[in-house]
Amino acid sequence: GFTRKFSSSAALNSVKTVTVVGGGLMGSGIAQVAAQAGQNVTIVDIKPELLDHAQKSIQNNLQRVAKKVHKDDPIKMEQFVKESISRIKITTNVEEAANVDLIVEAIVEKLEPKQELFNKLDKISPEHTIFATNTSSISVNAIGSGIKRKDRFGGLHFFNPVPVMRLLEVIKTESMSEETYKIMMEWGKSVGKTCITCKDTPGFVVNRLLGPYSAEALRLYERGDASKEDIDIGMKLGAGYPMGPFELADYTGLDTNKYVLEVLHKLTNNPVFRPIPLLDKMVSEGKLGVKTGEGFYKYK
Ligand code: CAA
Ligand code: NAD
Repeated sequence: GFTRKFSSSAALNSVKTVTVVGGGLMGSGIAQVAAQAGQNVTIVDIKPELLDHAQKSIQNNLQRVAKKVHKDDPIKMEQFVKESISRIKITTNVEEAANVDLIVEAIVEKLEPKQELFNKLDKISPEHTIFATNTSSISVNAIGSGIKRKDRFGGLHFFNPVPVMRLLEVIKTESMSEETYKIMMEWGKSVGKTCITCKDTPGFVVNRLLGPYSAEALRLYERGDASKEDIDIGMKLGAGYPMGPFELADYTGLDTNKYVLEVLHKLTNNPVFRPIPLLDKMVSEGKLGVKTGEGFYKYK
């Protein structure tokens, strides 16, 4: 109506400045795609060494992208990397980074720290700033339950590796305004992603379907029905998946897999998500996949 037209969020046509809180695997990827798209990005992390690591991995991944985009032009390649990097600032102080158009949260997958972060940001960010969480399993509504700007809050769920995976799930909560939804969809497109929309429902679309798939693969192997190698070959050659379920579990991390299954089990009560003894054992032994050097397979 009349008042909406004059609200500060209505004045925002596009996102030009972005803050990503959490500079780990996902946060660094999100920062990279925004910087590549010409936006000014600030990465916030509580650990300074994580920020150094994020910058290095972004530099490496930008080089991979540059090789693809400007393959015959080494000068343009270098320019692309340099310019993208120059748009990224890093800080350990979230207060320095609150005055932007969009804040994407990609910190640890736990409810309380996420709530605390948004409650704090809600007090210090300008009116127009839109908030988004990249949570893969927690309720978006629960994460934002303590903030006032519920109309300017939602989920932006990216996939690993962020620079390569072309999908973005936009999680549309019931309290989100149409305008915020539109801005999120447009922003997703601006960073090169195809956006799909999903309600705030456990696992959204992709994890809700990947969960039973990976759980059944683990049980097939646990029962000794087939070897993990053959299951992986089966799904790659028989179903066209880029990785088999065990390669994918190692890639995303067995701890993350276990956690997502646990949350889905709790929220849906669907027995397909019930605990898997083999997965629990491997996680307790620290065999988490690529990041620890061993999961279902060994990585030098
Ligand atoms: N940054 C930039 N570019 C990268 C990259 C990165 N981190 N990783 C890979 N690439 C590029 C490579 O440079 C390569 O480019 P070219 O084709 O131009 O040479 C291309 O991506 C393919 O990479 P590789 O040849 O190294 O290996 P691949 O063909 O096996 O592809 C993969 C790797 C893209 C990861 C592919 O195996 C894949 O799609 N796997 C499935 C990943 C998946 O399902 N992710 C979702 C997990 S679920 C999730 O994320 C949600 C959640 O909440 C947990
Ligand atoms: P990660 O452990 O690699 O990174 C998390 C980062 O957040 C760390 O660098 C940590 O120091 C930082 N951090 C923790 N608390 C903080 C705080 N209060 N303020 C600032 N920084 C803080 O984790 P990740 O894999 O990048 O996952 C981040 C989020 O993205 C999680 O919610 C996860 O569920 C979600 N997600 C993960 C994947 C995946 O495949 N790994 C895919 C989609 C979504």
